[in-house]
Order: sequence, then C-alpha cells, then structure tokens
Amino acid sequence: MENKARLLMVGSLGANQQNFLRAMEAKGWSIDAVVDLSRAATLLAREDYDAGLCCMHGPAEHELKELDHLITRSRMEWMALTKDHELRKPALCKALANLFMAYQVEPIDIEQIDCLMHHAVAMKRLRLEESEPPLAEGDSEFEMVGTVPAMKKVFDTIRRVASVDAPVFISGESGTGKELAARAIHERSQRASAPFVPVNCGALPSNMIQSELFGHEKGAFTGANQQKIGQIEAASGGTLFLDEIGDLPLELQVNLLRFLEEKTIQRIGALDEIEVDVRVLSATHVDLEKAVAEGRFREDLYHRLNVLQVDIPPLRERQEDIEILARFFFDRFIEEKSMNVRGFSQEALVLMRHYHWPGNIRELINRVRRALVMCDQRLIKPADLGLERRTANRNAITLEEARNSAEKEALLSALNRNKHKVKKAADELGVSRVTLYRLMEKHNLERKSEGSSSLTSA
Ligand SMILES: Nc1ncnc2c1ncn2[C@@H]1O[C@H](COP(=O)(O)OP(=O)(O)OP(=O)(O)O)[C@@H](O)[C@H]1O
Ligand SMILES: [Mg+2]
Repeated sequence: MENKARLLMVGSLGANQQNFLRAMEAKGWSIDAVVDLSRAATLLAREDYDAGLCCMHGPAEHELKELDHLITRSRMEWMALTKDHELRKPALCKALANLFMAYQVEPIDIEQIDCLMHHAVAMKRLRLEESEPPLAEGDSEFEMVGTVPAMKKVFDTIRRVASVDAPVFISGESGTGKELAARAIHERSQRASAPFVPVNCGALPSNMIQSELFGHEKGAFTGANQQKIGQIEAASGGTLFLDEIGDLPLELQVNLLRFLEEKTIQRIGALDEIEVDVRVLSATHVDLEKAVAEGRFREDLYHRLNVLQVDIPPLRERQEDIEILARFFFDRFIEEKSMNVRGFSQEALVLMRHYHWPGNIRELINRVRRALVMCDQRLIKPADLGLERRTANRNAITLEEARNSAEKEALLSALNRNKHKVKKAADELGVSRVTLYRLMEKHNLERKSEGSSSLTSA
C-alpha cells in the first residue's frame, strides 16, 4: 500500500498524543488531529481522508449523537481508542459496536493500529471502486443506473430513439423503469426544453380521460364551467407520455389514432381543430400484442405507437445490477436521515440476488427504505429487508397459483370480449351468472357497466 494515506483523528490521547502522532507519522501516515467534533466535521467537508481515528474518552450523550452523524456521513472506516473503564458504559459500547470497524483499549499498540488503519484504507478504496458511477443517464433526480449488457442495450436504444422524432413504445413489467426511460428519451431529444407531460391512461375513469387528453370548451357538458386545456395541448412542442396505454378505452383509441395521423385535436365542444406538435411516447406493462389479438386494442393504433421500441428487462434478469441499485438507493435515502447503518451485510446481498423481485425496481426501492428504518445495527440484515417469506423460488409456482391465474385470465378475456355483458360472458364460460359474479369477486375484478370496453383489476 502506498504511504501518506490521510487519517483524521478526533479527540486526544492527552500526554501521549505527541508521541502517538510522531510514531504514526514514522509509519508513513499523514494525520490531521482535531480536538472536537465540529472541527472534524469542517475538515471532513473540505478535505478527503482515507480513514478515521477517534479517542473515546467519556463522551457525553449529545457528543455520541454528533459522532454518529459524523461517522455515518464520512464514507470511510473508523477505529476507536478507549479506556478499559469506558467499556462499562452501555451507550459507549453501543456506539463502538455500531459505528466503528475496530477499537483498541489503551495502552496504545502502534503496530496494531497501523495494521488496522491499512485495512480501513483498503476497505474505503474497494468501496470507491465499486461505487464508481456505472452508467449514469441524465441528472441525479432521473439518473438511470445499469451495468449489465441488457441495460447497456436499453441505454443505447434510448440514445438512438431520442434523436428521431417518431413515436416510441416502451414495454416492461411493472416497476422496471418505463417512465424513467421515457423521461430519458425526452431529455435527450430536441424537445428537451419543452414540457414532458405524463398521462396515466389507467388511472382515470373513461368518461374523464377524453377531456383530460383533449380538453373541453366552457359549457361542453354539465359541469364544464370553464375551458380546459387537455394534456395533449399542454405538451405542445414537447413530449406526451401515455402510460398504461393498454388501459385506454376503445372509443378513445379512435380519437388518439386520429390525432396521431392528423396532428390535430378538437377540444370537447369545440368547433375547430387545433394543430398540435407533440411527440408521443407510450408504455404498458400488459402484453399489447395479446390485447390486439383479443380485440381489446386497435391494431392500427398499436402500429402507429410502436414505430420504435424500447424493452426494459425485469430486475431478476439483471442480477449484477441488483446490488449496484441497492447501494444507489441506500446512498440516496441515507442522505435523508442520519442513521447508524453503513451498508448491507453479505447475507442481505445474497438474499436480494436470489429474490424474484415481482415489483422490480420500485419494490427494491421500498425494501431498501424499509431496511433503513428497521435496521438497528451497522449492516442491513436479511430480516430488515422483509423479504424472506416471499423468497421461495417464484419460478416454481404451486398448482393452486397456476389454476388461479388461468381462471382470472379466462374471466378477463371473456368479459372484455363480451363488452362486460355478464350474461353473455357467463354463457361463453359455461357457468351461471351467479358463479361468474362470485369468481369476479374472488379475483377482485371490478363490475363495470355493461357495454364498457376494458376491464381492470379493482
Ligand atoms: N435503472 C434505474 N436506475 C435508477 N432508478 C430506477 C431505474 N429504473 C427505475 N428506477 C426508479 O424506479 C422507480 C420505478 O420506475 P418507473 O416509474 O419508471 O417504472 P415503471 O416501469 O413506469 O413502473 P409502472 O409499470 O409501475 O408504472 C422510479 O422511482 C424510478 O426512478
Ligand atoms: Mg409507470
């Protein structure tokens, strides 16, 4: 290891201090020694250190809190020097266990400290190499992280499609980063300085979505007390992101198609057409080709939207990225609170690698957040993640699960095919109306008014 690694020392060894500093310098260390925590914090904010040393001689409770804050944010390993009688204080012991890589009870043993500090420096370097930003897309708020070949391909595609003004269709399971990808495309396009307007087609009732997208004139319908500019118009010059496009009711699919073909819209109740220059990106987590085959989604609209395509792989297929993403979110959230937690235990990392992640990155984010709250030690343990019970190999589903999902699938497609006419759907399925209602309830399927054209889980 190269010499002149830099140590920050907080507190003093009293009469032994000068000898200690000389001995450490003779070993090749460069040490900045400060007597109190606030000076240490100032130095840490300004300078770059490789490891820390702290004299723990009867710190007061508020000092332990400050110390916690300082160490947790320092992003390096610390060693404590303390005295035998201090070890009788529970608060001090807790701090030693949680914040420090090691501690030594005086009298000082220079050889051992030298050895431990080398170890601390090596750990910090390792961590730095590991956390080198793998591939950052965009600014920090919308940074997209990924290192595996499949994600590099996604980034490449994003860059390529960004420069073309054609519609892009983004597919991927729930929580894989479809909206983030849409933003990345917008930000890299010529439209970057104009608005990016996301609309979730699945979140609005079908009677509202028309006015949400196209706007309306004052008095166009009961309750339309004033004119409303729709989201398409609001995205003028920029990008409209139609999320959950698969949930768009059939009658609105026609209107959207017209807009894509003619580049004009008509507010509800308006007489004139307005020209709007908007690029359309769309996404869904459902299989749109299947929806087309089942008559739930217009084929012509599908081809219009799907000129260019970005497919985002599920998290379980990005094994090596799981740990990188977990640390990325750890770092992001640790900023929010000052906590003892320093990282993930090996066991927790292994668990995350083998978990199926049905909710993908969104689920990973929630698990890391939860772990930060639950963790009461230096390193996050498997239990803090709250994953165990659900870790059973999800590829091997039970027969019961398979039956259930096939049943739900059959209900959904029969109801959609029959425009929610329960009697017709029940006939087709060969069950009574009552049975069909019972099954719909079992699978949490909303009863929609007959004749309506899409069905979602309640
Ligand atoms: N590669 C990535 N790097 C960093 N953060 C990511 C990445 N992918 C997704 N995220 C984050 O994960 C969360 C979910 O992403 P996003 O909302 O884009 O997913 P989605 O595919 O649109 O999900 P849904 O289908 O549920 O709408 C967001 O907070 C997003 O910022
Ligand atoms: Mg989304």
